[in-house]
Amino acid sequence: TALIILMIALAYLAGSVSSAVLVCRLFSLPDPRTQGSGNPGATNVYRLGGRFPAILTLVCDVLKGTIPVWGSYFLGIEPFYLGIIAIAACLGHIYPLFFGFKGGKAVATALGAMLPIGLDLSGLLILTWIATVFISGYSSLAALVTVGLAPVFTWFIKPLYTIPVTMLAILIIGRHRSNIVRLIKGKEGRIWDKGKTLE
Ligand code: G3P
Repeated sequence: TALIILMIALAYLAGSVSSAVLVCRLFSLPDPRTQGSGNPGATNVYRLGGRFPAILTLVCDVLKGTIPVWGSYFLGIEPFYLGIIAIAACLGHIYPLFFGFKGGKAVATALGAMLPIGLDLSGLLILTWIATVFISGYSSLAALVTVGLAPVFTWFIKPLYTIPVTMLAILIIGRHRSNIVRLIKGKEGRIWDKGKTLE
């Protein structure tokens, strides 16, 4: 149990490293917490700085989920606790210790945390996200559709993980409240509308 508690704490700390803020500093871009949508995530970094900084943010945010969960799996930690470690990494991203507890929406980190479940599930999730962005242009809608379907996909592919995946989905949908309001009002920015400040 000491190992499990340690891994939960490490996952939270890893999640607390805001890749978006650090990448923006590295590339001398505006602070993603005050510009664009105000969200420290890859989508907003893309708005502010284009493809390369966004991909770097995405990769770092994904790894924050993958490394603690995968590491814990190799340490022999049971599936139930792997789910808790995944949630801890996402809570770190959403409420980061190092960034005044004001974090992002945990889409990339949750995907990273789910990667160890298998490439079939993660592949399906990535395809869902890409297809929705392609059709609609909305990154937030793609996240909502993807996390909405994630528990269903998980139920069919790896039923053991349905509960933690559902919890992650609820957490992420809750973080998209302002996006949902903008989508309903028709005011959400499309992914290619760069640099727009969305209130
Ligand atoms: O990953 C976050 C995305 O779903 C929405 O980001 O910046 O458009 O609020 P943003």
